[in-house]
Amino acid sequence: MSVKAIIGAQWGDEGKGKIVDFLSQKVDFIVRFNGGPNAGHTVLNKYGKFKLHLIPSGIFNKKAISIIGNGVVINPEVLVKEMKELKKAGVFCENLKISDKAHLILPWHLEIDAIEEKEREKKGKSIGTTLRGIGPAFSDKVSRFGLRMGDLKDLKKFKEKLYFLFELKKHILKKTENSFSKVYKKFLSLRKILLPFIVETEFILWKAVSKKKEILLEGAQGTLLDIDFGTYPNVTSSSCILASASQGSGIPPKEIKEIIGVVKAYTTRVGAKTQPFPTEMPEKLANILRERANEYGSTTGRPRRCGWLDGVLLKYAQKLNGFTFLAITKLDCLTGFDKLKICIKYKEKQKVVPFEKFSISNLENYKPIYLNLSGWKTFPSNCQKFSHLPREAQNYLREIEEIVKVPIKFVSFGPEREKILSI
Ligand code: GDP
Ligand code: IMO
Ligand code: MG
Repeated sequence: MSVKAIIGAQWGDEGKGKIVDFLSQKVDFIVRFNGGPNAGHTVLNKYGKFKLHLIPSGIFNKKAISIIGNGVVINPEVLVKEMKELKKAGVFCENLKISDKAHLILPWHLEIDAIEEKEREKKGKSIGTTLRGIGPAFSDKVSRFGLRMGDLKDLKKFKEKLYFLFELKKHILKKTENSFSKVYKKFLSLRKILLPFIVETEFILWKAVSKKKEILLEGAQGTLLDIDFGTYPNVTSSSCILASASQGSGIPPKEIKEIIGVVKAYTTRVGAKTQPFPTEMPEKLANILRERANEYGSTTGRPRRCGWLDGVLLKYAQKLNGFTFLAITKLDCLTGFDKLKICIKYKEKQKVVPFEKFSISNLENYKPIYLNLSGWKTFPSNCQKFSHLPREAQNYLREIEEIVKVPIKFVSFGPEREKILSI
């Protein structure tokens, strides 16, 4: 199989970075295809600990080409900072390629994000965005007021385009560089660093596909944050399901043969506290899990809300993505709970909701029906086979397969690269 996609099956932060770092050791290309610096993909390997926002989590494979695809919105400052941090750790970005069609996040996008978030907050309708300018950058892309990485190539034209946009948006620029020359100057220095990396990446990928090279497509966010099928309006501004892997890279859908859904062994959600979360744990339990599993945002440091695994939402994710395999992460974090729960159905007004009647827009009215399972007391630190897992953990995994009807291929039990089982 030559093209694999890694897709978050929940509300993001499933551990995609860990899985991509592990799988990318044996591939030729790694492609980030959606989102932007709202993503925070944590990787822990022999080079150190990294929270990657834009650069593919496969950058540590020096023989592979890492690509930031056209579907990503790029804040060039964040990108350059990330490149410098990697360099400090001895990881060089000489094999990085950036799509000329990826859009730029411009200074006003960050400010608009903050203004809009504040307005929503006043009305109690806060999304709790990462304030990285994601929504406004994607809005401008769709409204055709965007600037793309490729625009950096012709400096004269770039300056004209930037000036046109600056004139349109300058009333918003209150906090940061509110003069054109300051904005332009900043871009000049970033351009110098980034220019050599900018190419038409789809051509590289088409060639790779025709030569049957191993390609790993790295999704950001998760299915429930998808702009169409997620928990709208509390979603991100790009698509996060499998379909976006093709749109955001240029690889035809039919070439993607393996689709790995990354599933955290429980559920987390970041953003405003009022957003519906049917399987959210009572506060006391959630606090225990949050501390044990270090459930704090990789990008913003915000505490993540914690809940039990939600089988209904996983089934929904399976319908949208057609996973061929699952990768379960953070199984170790459930160690020590006497009882575990998995939501297998929802009820509304005391009536069971058949899956065909389930609506993602109606989450606030659903109450979970749980399957109760026994927990396990200890977790082996050196686990090399499925049979090394505690019996209760094996049962827990088998229940997930039963619910989603997709086989589990990987089980991650620690943040480090080595702490993973292939089954
Ligand atoms: P991503 O956005 O999907 O890449 O996930 P994040 O990096 O935002 O969050 C996942 C967190 O869990 C990070 O701190 C990882 O280091 C950590 N992690 C990943 N897999 C495991 C695992 O199997 N066990 C434990 N204990 N931590 C893990
Ligand atoms: P990774 O790739 C978890 C959430 C934000 C907010 C909503 C909209 O690390 O899994 P945005 O800044 O995109 O406009 O915010 O989406 N969100 C994420 N939550 N993991 C992510 O990425 C996220 N990216 C965005 O918290 O609720
Ligand atoms: Mg994350």
